[in-house]
Amino acid sequence: MSSKDFENQQVGLRRQAAGERRATALAHPNIALIKYWGNQDDDLRLPANPSLSMNLGDLQTVTAVTFDDRLPADELLINGTEFSGPALQRVTASLDLVRRLAGIDTPARIESDSNVPVGSGIASSSAAFAALSVAAAAAAGLDLAETALSRLARRGSGSASRSVPAGYCEWVTGSDQTSVATSIAPPDHWALRDVVVVASRAHKAVGSSGGHPLARTSSLQAARVAGVEARLEACRETLLARDLDRMGPVIEEDAVIMHAVMMSSRPPLYYWTPTTMALILATQQWRAEGIPVYFTIDAGPNVHLICEAPYAQAVEAQARKIAGVQTVLASQPGGPARLVD
Ligand code: PMV
Repeated sequence: MSSKDFENQQVGLRRQAAGERRATALAHPNIALIKYWGNQDDDLRLPANPSLSMNLGDLQTVTAVTFDDRLPADELLINGTEFSGPALQRVTASLDLVRRLAGIDTPARIESDSNVPVGSGIASSSAAFAALSVAAAAAAGLDLAETALSRLARRGSGSASRSVPAGYCEWVTGSDQTSVATSIAPPDHWALRDVVVVASRAHKAVGSSGGHPLARTSSLQAARVAGVEARLEACRETLLARDLDRMGPVIEEDAVIMHAVMMSSRPPLYYWTPTTMALILATQQWRAEGIPVYFTIDAGPNVHLICEAPYAQAVEAQARKIAGVQTVLASQPGGPARLVD
């Protein structure tokens, strides 16, 4: 055994010692059908408007949290790579909320693994902070209700609040106590598919945490927020009725209005690339040819094509033909964030 191996083994033994409290949780990312953009309170991540989403069951993050008195400070490993700086600070801020609730000040080791392809441009913070919150609360010995876990996850990343409950979820505005997400339908309510089309692998210049505070600088944000309630009600009603022909135009309009706000902010955020625009136009063409499919787009260039399960393969095949497309992957609706062994 080399001295390094011996050292590693000692570390392993030390970390298995009494005084550790460990829990592991799994969460899925979600795609918003009615978008969240801008906050009433940036620190508390209280959203400017309610939103509605679908968990993506084929993508997941599994996070183990171990509170250990012997650690000098929090440690963060994502897919085997150690992170410090802003990524660790954001995780520590979430853990501090859990520590405060549990009345402890123990540092933690966080080991997170995700099957979202690295560099795919698919935001994984929703799954990351949902899994972190569920695992950390359990490891700290807290027995929290789903709404309390959704609230905790929200403080890490707004959209993470929607990855805590199962299936199709609605996140309401309100106070720090009341702004949480709940499920409006289970995953098996409707066999929708999200065909995720990666249009660029380039790292985003401005992520959503940096983008939300810019929303209020757009003169279109007030109009977007004023119209959200009606779009959300139409989306909820047509989702519950499994009526894609009526839901599709609502989600497209909502995504485009959000991007209009982004593009008219100061400074402006232009997330679309020529491939994004080609996919938008192609979606209209595919519909004209008889494939019922509609797009939505988050804070990036990638296009999420929403269709019913029987059309998913055809949509995937069509999307792969568009110039500039990097990767295509499809997901079914997913379950809640949950503890795993
Ligand atoms: O949760 P955040 O801060 O990553 O913001 C998510 C923002 C959008 O993905 C653009 C919209 C949404 O509702 O998920």
